[in-house]
Amino acid sequence: MRNDEAGFSTRAIHAGYDPADEHGALTPPLHLTSTFAFDSAEAGGEMFAGTREGHFYSRISNPTTDLLERRLASLEGAEAAVATASGMGAITATLWSFLRAGDEVITDQTLYGCTFAFLRDGLTRFGVTVRQVDMTDPAALAAAISDKTRIVYFETPANPNMRLVDIAAISAIAHEAGAKVVVDNTYATPLLTRPLGLGADVVVHSATKYLGGHGDLVGGIAAGGVEDMARVRLVGVKDMTGAVMSPFTAFLVLRGLKTLALRMARHCESGEAVARWLEAHPAVASVRYPGLESFPQRDLAARQMARGGGMIAFELKGGHAAGVAAMNRLTMIRRAVSLGDAETLIQHPASMTHSPYTLAERAAAGIGEGLVRLSVGLEDVADILGDLERALEMAKVAEGV
Ligand SMILES: Cc1ncc(COP(=O)(O)O)c(C=O)c1O
Repeated sequence: MRNDEAGFSTRAIHAGYDPADEHGALTPPLHLTSTFAFDSAEAGGEMFAGTREGHFYSRISNPTTDLLERRLASLEGAEAAVATASGMGAITATLWSFLRAGDEVITDQTLYGCTFAFLRDGLTRFGVTVRQVDMTDPAALAAAISDKTRIVYFETPANPNMRLVDIAAISAIAHEAGAKVVVDNTYATPLLTRPLGLGADVVVHSATKYLGGHGDLVGGIAAGGVEDMARVRLVGVKDMTGAVMSPFTAFLVLRGLKTLALRMARHCESGEAVARWLEAHPAVASVRYPGLESFPQRDLAARQMARGGGMIAFELKGGHAAGVAAMNRLTMIRRAVSLGDAETLIQHPASMTHSPYTLAERAAAGIGEGLVRLSVGLEDVADILGDLERALEMAKVAEGV
């Protein structure tokens, strides 16, 4: 069986690995080594010159990390991938690799808080212009893009308010102007959306989330064409950030990937059930979830996402105070940032993940002060609903609903 012809789950379990190469070990070994001995001085020189293949130092490549990179490339439909120390490592290494002073980046209005802070406070210090447009409207990008634009960057669904961006429409406009499209696919995972197949050039992930899936690691991955990934590896990771993934982390992500499809099926099933339940609850003002009929971008969700996923954004009628009070009453659901774990996690973006934004910036980005973000986990859905029911019942009483 050829790996590239196998199904998603089969590739998530087998791609890039033959036990015969590793003494029959069913589980790919963990190569905990910083450096690699050369057969001869000449061989070492040739590896540094790039004329001989092989691993020579784990900031550049390592067999365990290399397997993860090949496996993730297979799942994203990419030619190559580069694993990094964190999602922010993947984002910063990718952008540093392609930008120089005088260039321009155009991003969507809603981004994860630290990505937003990197663009606003980091890149701009080095002479890169950063502009934000509402990418839910491709015409807004067409009006803003110029011959200085090198990168068009967005998340879909966006953290935390679940806005979707039409990858194919935005990519067509960006490519017309000669810009590269970089998509953060953390929320959707390659199981629900494959941005490269829709026209994007580079996909970035926080592997900390669904790819790892167990809340026990911090990691990131970029995937795309061979030349782009060589640049991310040798410029962005090796020299500019040093944000390399540890082989141990790669080992854990490889283990997580084996159950990605199973876990996502459960995240989606429970996500749909919880979103419907919240929508029907009298204390809830609004719910944003791509699998709901009421989702404003329902057609795009149906075209671009296989299912709705495990992330939900909602607001209570009592606003911020009611949201905080309800969160404090939960007993099983954990009050924690991060997402995509087995545990259901709840957090308040305005005071937590999106606190790097100012109040005015959050308003412009459509991140409500009362918005609550829920990452629906793998527990029995009845227990997730039971915990929410108790917490919201009290919020309802408090609000006199
Ligand atoms: C959408 C998104 N992108 C990137 C990141 C950054 O990832 P990491 O925390 O692994 O650096 C996060 C973290 O929450 C995220 O939610």
